[in-house]
Amino acid sequence: MTARHLPPGHHRYRDARQTRVPIVATILAESNAKAAALALIEAGEVVAIPTETVYGLAGDAANGQAVARIFEAKGRPRFNPLIAHVSSLGMAKDIAVFDPLSQKLADAFWPGPLTLVLPLREGAAIHPLVTAGLSTIALRMPMGFGAELIAALGRPLAAPSANSSGRVSATTAAAVDADLGRRIRLIVDGGPTPVGLESTIVKTEGDAVRLLRPGGVAAEDIERVLGQPLVRGGKVGVEAPGMLASHYAPRAAVRLDAKYVASGEALLAFGPGAIEGAANAVVTLNLSPAGDLREAAANLFTMVQALDRSGAAAIAVMPIPHAGLGEAINDRVRRAAAPRDLAIDAT
Ligand code: TXA
Ligand code: MG
Repeated sequence: MTARHLPPGHHRYRDARQTRVPIVATILAESNAKAAALALIEAGEVVAIPTETVYGLAGDAANGQAVARIFEAKGRPRFNPLIAHVSSLGMAKDIAVFDPLSQKLADAFWPGPLTLVLPLREGAAIHPLVTAGLSTIALRMPMGFGAELIAALGRPLAAPSANSSGRVSATTAAAVDADLGRRIRLIVDGGPTPVGLESTIVKTEGDAVRLLRPGGVAAEDIERVLGQPLVRGGKVGVEAPGMLASHYAPRAAVRLDAKYVASGEALLAFGPGAIEGAANAVVTLNLSPAGDLREAAANLFTMVQALDRSGAAAIAVMPIPHAGLGEAINDRVRRAAAPRDLAIDAT
């Protein structure tokens, strides 16, 4: 099929990818991949790693550019919150606040295929792109290679399943390679993943624990440990209406595709250009002066929040291209601009 025959959206997407340097992933057996994986992660790159559930596309959870690369490689049209993977309970507690029920579950099932959604600890060294600006974080302690890599790094790895958006999770290195091999540099081969499906996700709500996603740990086993039934229903990723939950939701009105800045407005700029009235902005932050979408993605949540804190009545957002990561960035600012009484899923 030639590009001419592709639907317009698809065509644009392919072009966005083709502007990148072509990559062919190296596949290394896990027994001798740790140093290479660690070096790439420390350099802000992403690496596909085996876990006991499915392969994960891992990046440094404290590095916004690395996390942006994860979304870029997956081709996710939205910034869904990712799971942060830890190698010890101490590391988990530096990031999140544990309640007694979650503690009980961590004691029983970690390391293993259980993810706990917990309140994010204030000041935790987690980039806001990991949580998509939510005030909670999904945490899991994997087994095997992933745990060793995290321990060597000394901080958490953000890792969604290593598949492109809309495809099923990969359970072999070959499946990762077929899907993402031209977008990432390293795939660590740990053989077929033993569990074969994603982790179970639960969240404590008062005295109850809600099952957000069934997965590798059976609900019955969790109920046995808790001594009470799980609450069913509810969606992963959803925490509040609008773009960003509680502490990130902008109070200011958000005006998209701004061609000018009106008096009293703050400016969220993008790229080297200027727009009319820019000099009058109450405060200006530029998502990426060079016009780099990866840098813009990494800055998005923090900058919207900072502009909001300025007290400006409105935030004017300069046009942001829709190619590549631009799609997810535009999705998020569009949600921020939505009227507050219009509940929109945060996923
Ligand atoms: O087994 C697994 O969990 C694999 C391996 C790689 O660890 N990871 C995985 O990640 O399945 P991912 O990104 O494909 O799925 C994570 C899910 C998403 O549905 C996301 O919405 C949800 O977790 N999630 C993340 N943070 C959340 C939060 N704060 N509240 C509710 N749901 C959350
Ligand atoms: Mg997934």
